[in-house]
Amino acid sequence: MAETPSVIVVDHPLVRHKLTRLRDRATPTSEFRVLMREVGALLAIEATRHLPLVETVVETPLAPTAGWRLEPAPAVIPILRAGLGLADGLLDLLPEADVGHLGMYRDEETVRPVPYLERLPEGLGARGVVVVDPMLATGHSAAYALDLLFARGARPEATVLMALVAAPEGVAEINRLFPAVRIVTAALDERLNEKSYIVPGLGDAGDRLYGTL
Ligand code: URA
Repeated sequence: MAETPSVIVVDHPLVRHKLTRLRDRATPTSEFRVLMREVGALLAIEATRHLPLVETVVETPLAPTAGWRLEPAPAVIPILRAGLGLADGLLDLLPEADVGHLGMYRDEETVRPVPYLERLPEGLGARGVVVVDPMLATGHSAAYALDLLFARGARPEATVLMALVAAPEGVAEINRLFPAVRIVTAALDERLNEKSYIVPGLGDAGDRLYGTL
């Protein structure tokens, strides 16, 4: 795992292998969807590292022993559309989570997010929060989402941004605006192109996930 204070790149061999399949333009939607979910589960290990626990006692068949329970229930917040595919893998490992949805699409001219849906769980201030945005490109959508979540009570130091692929520009923007937010990603790519797509990236994650190319 490669780590700077602000971004954790999960470079496990399984992640590298699956990300390569996701990048491949020849990978069909059916496989893309499965891979996205699998990488979501692999990134979940790092994205959930700082979730709060409470101590408990459990009875094994032999004796009582000390244990831990995830509490309060974390909140997983996918940014629609593509966040849904990556969040599914996280939720496979974290069925205790409550899920909030933030809908926004990118205005292709301004490359700014246009919001259309907000549905969030209560009590964000007490929870660990994982925001799921597969392509951290300009950082505008993630920044919009984080701003909104902090206005609704979420705490920056308890919030993680989970991305499949990140561009240096997006990472810099999130670091600048929200230095306490940790970013967990499978890859830090080279740059953005003139349309603000990540290069080499994997194309439009939502289109590839849902077959709307
Ligand atoms: N959104 C995508 O789906 N892909 C990119 O490269 C950038 C934003």
